[in-house]
Amino acid sequence: QSATCSSRKLRSLTIEGVVEFIKTEKPKNIIVMTGAGISTSAGIPDFRSPGSGLYDNLQKYDLPSPEAIFQIDFFEKNPEPFFTLAKELFPEDLKPTPCHYFIRMLEKKGLLRRWYTQNIDSLEYLTGLPEDKVVTAHGNHHTSTCRKCSTKYDLGWITAKLKDKSCKVPHCEKLSCGGVVKPDIIFFGEALPRRFFHCAIQDFPQCDLLLIFGTSLVVQPFASMVNEVDAECPRLLVNLEAVGRASRLEEMIGTTGLCYGRDGNTRDVFWKGSCDEGARKMADLLGWDAELDILIEQG
Ligand code: APR
Repeated sequence: QSATCSSRKLRSLTIEGVVEFIKTEKPKNIIVMTGAGISTSAGIPDFRSPGSGLYDNLQKYDLPSPEAIFQIDFFEKNPEPFFTLAKELFPEDLKPTPCHYFIRMLEKKGLLRRWYTQNIDSLEYLTGLPEDKVVTAHGNHHTSTCRKCSTKYDLGWITAKLKDKSCKVPHCEKLSCGGVVKPDIIFFGEALPRRFFHCAIQDFPQCDLLLIFGTSLVVQPFASMVNEVDAECPRLLVNLEAVGRASRLEEMIGTTGLCYGRDGNTRDVFWKGSCDEGARKMADLLGWDAELDILIEQG
């Protein structure tokens, strides 16, 4: 089925076609969506890659299920496994990856509307991107909150607690409180930050190109945001594995998801490979490779 010329925006359903679209149509409201796959080359494991993913390496915590370590009702009963893991995972002198810096380039070129990330490693901010360009859909460690009296603690305080080997679970320092203090990352069972919804309502309808890097697109409501862009807005997925496609049944009931490889697709592209390779390929095709290298070296 050939789409009408007005609707088809990509001359070819390839990463080259997406770059050509950027060059010729000059989208100014690019939205980027990222997950753990963008930070694996920085040394942070993702969650679901077989073998290396975090959820395959939690046996020692004797959990009812791997995700329990990020479930709020489990945390209320037993916060220790989360903090033991947090101490292991805490982003010590980690650096953004080439893919992080490619997204920074989009912002430097005035093309980036917003960067929605599921990650809690805060590497996005280390690229020098203006903070209002980033939405951390699953929160981050910038602040922590006492579960009992809601007192806020800053990054320095929780960092000291996570580095302190004698501290198994951080507790509130307010007199007669002593409640458990939890980083403001979003656990399963908690609502996403208000800012996620506030920005998404404004951003996604304006999106003129959606770039998705390094996520399995299985966690809601983040994953379903791919359907919130205009029906003709091109969408590129850069990932090690093919994800995000609606099942045949979902297609029949109209839940779209990504349609690369499906009959009638005129706008979805899947580029199979690492985030860094995909980002570098796009930077080379855009003629941004020298600038990108400088950003990475300065980082
Ligand atoms: N380049 C490209 N893709 C990669 C790379 C890489 N270097 N490394 C891993 N991937 C892919 C994996 O194949 C997988 O499809 O990235 C995806 C990572 O998926 P997940 O591990 O499920 O991570 P994510 O999608 O971010 O998880 C979403 O789940 O546990 C919750 O809140 C947590 O934010 C997290 C959410």
